[in-house]
Amino acid sequence: MASTALDGAVTSTPRDTKITFAMTDAKRFDAGYYRRFYEKAGTCVADSSSVERLAGFVTGYLRYLQLPVRSVLDLGCGLGHWRTALKALVPRASYRGVEWSEYQCDRMGWEHGSVVDYAPGRAFDLVVCQGVLQYLDDASAARAIQNLGRLSQGALYLEALTRRDWRHNVDRALTDGDVHLRTGDWYMHRLKRKFMPLGGGLFVRRSAGVSLFELETLT
Ligand SMILES: C[S@@+](CC[C@H](N)C(=O)[O-])C[C@H]1O[C@@H](n2cnc3c(N)ncnc32)[C@H](O)[C@@H]1O
Repeated sequence: MASTALDGAVTSTPRDTKITFAMTDAKRFDAGYYRRFYEKAGTCVADSSSVERLAGFVTGYLRYLQLPVRSVLDLGCGLGHWRTALKALVPRASYRGVEWSEYQCDRMGWEHGSVVDYAPGRAFDLVVCQGVLQYLDDASAARAIQNLGRLSQGALYLEALTRRDWRHNVDRALTDGDVHLRTGDWYMHRLKRKFMPLGGGLFVRRSAGVSLFELETLT
């Protein structure tokens, strides 16, 4: 599938373990899922305004670091809130949205694929993966993190619900708890092989050549 430039031009009860492989249950992400978690007042867990603020932080900090954002890959892009937000912030960047949900691919025109093994044969300046990895079992999530290391040539924004988040940081009435909860250390250990964590869910690739002061990274 061709990437779309953000200015419109076409440029080309929680479980700690679960044995089912996430790639088999794409049907879970159907109309009912998005209605409950994204569309219906009262049960909606996130909306476009929170992504607008987040995308402002991500693109603003990357601008400060002088890391260009000419291409964006959004893995598990859902309703496309990042595409909308980035259109205002980096209108000349190309955007590619990839989804495992066949429902959302049909509805929004996203490319069908999985964060575990999506391999378009190129890398992107910014890879976004928000709220996806907790749906994968340990082996799949580990493979997905390796894949993120291949797909990003600059920055990564990653959000994944952790065990501590479930216990202390989220509203359980709104948040989907039928996921694989792991520790933050589990994620960091794997991410740090290829990325430096900057905080705020933002990571830069070690090979991107960004020079950071010690207190600008989470070591
Ligand atoms: C909590 S939603 C997040 C949607 C979007 N990233 C956002 O933050 O608005 C999780 C999304 O991940 C997608 N997803 C689940 N497993 C996936 C996989 N293996 N590869 C790509 N997307 C996946 C689901 O279809 C769903 O749209």
